[in-house]
Amino acid sequence: MKPRIYSTRELPPEVISELKRRFRLDWNRRDRPVTRRELLQAVDGAEGLITMLNDSIDAAVMAAAPKLRIIANYAVGYNNIDVVAASRRGIDVTNTPGVLTEATADLTWALILATARRLHEGEALVRSGRWTGWAPTQLVGGEIYGKTIGIIGMGRIGQAVARRAQGFAMDIIYHSRNRLPLIKEVVLGARYQSLKTLLHEADVVTLHLPLTNESRHVIGQEALQWMKPTAYLINTARGPVVDEKALLKALARKQIAGAGFDVYEEEPRVPAALRRLNNVVLLPHLGSAARETRVQMGMMVIDNLAARFAGHEPPNKVN
Ligand code: GLV
Ligand code: GLV
Repeated sequence: MKPRIYSTRELPPEVISELKRRFRLDWNRRDRPVTRRELLQAVDGAEGLITMLNDSIDAAVMAAAPKLRIIANYAVGYNNIDVVAASRRGIDVTNTPGVLTEATADLTWALILATARRLHEGEALVRSGRWTGWAPTQLVGGEIYGKTIGIIGMGRIGQAVARRAQGFAMDIIYHSRNRLPLIKEVVLGARYQSLKTLLHEADVVTLHLPLTNESRHVIGQEALQWMKPTAYLINTARGPVVDEKALLKALARKQIAGAGFDVYEEEPRVPAALRRLNNVVLLPHLGSAARETRVQMGMMVIDNLAARFAGHEPPNKVN
């Protein structure tokens, strides 16, 4: 008998057909996240679960799924899963690292440039039909080439952002839980700095750390005060890494020049006060939303499930 798998969301067609070939697959066909009630019902009998970053997979979900052996998150971040509870029940938890690194770094750069050069305002102006023509002081933004980029969190994605920054001749500084080996620092041209120094010096501060108890609100009132009034804050990591209330105050008081955000504290809720500001670019969590990437993430999920049901250690097990 093929193992029974439940996916909380529709996946790319290539991924669904491969899943169907290998497993007894059931999935949420509604074009929205599963509700708590639907999830608790659907997991009964499932041996494997494919979950999204916006599904909260806690001990109660696991208790409702007594046959569950593996939770394969369709994301690199897995802060949505109670990993300790899973380990206690002998359930493997896996993620999809690596395959979305470049897509997320590309999107980070799209946000950096859009925020600094005010693409959203320019685009809105043209669409409005009210553009009156070129002017020396029209929508003037911040220069990026040759400036200093401060990368907080220097894992795969932070490093991929740094490689792109080399093409913009930037001075690259970083802060991370673990300092990189010297050889990597040399290749990336990146210097390690304390958080405070980084925030003082960077013209662009970009966040690439996982959401943990230590990283929650790393960027709060104090950190924002350390930033330059001409600096931009970019977040493509996880919303709660930034204290949104403190950010709103800093933006309103022009303590920093602007912000480019792909993630929010309580997705999909984005504070109205943030949506009203001109000096922010707001995207709907698009970091990994590139066609090839989303298929590769699915294939990685399949590899993890297949390994588990063949009795091997899944390649991307995190617990
Ligand atoms: C996206 O945010 C991911 O963690 O994959
Ligand atoms: C994620 O893949 C990271 O390590 O940054």
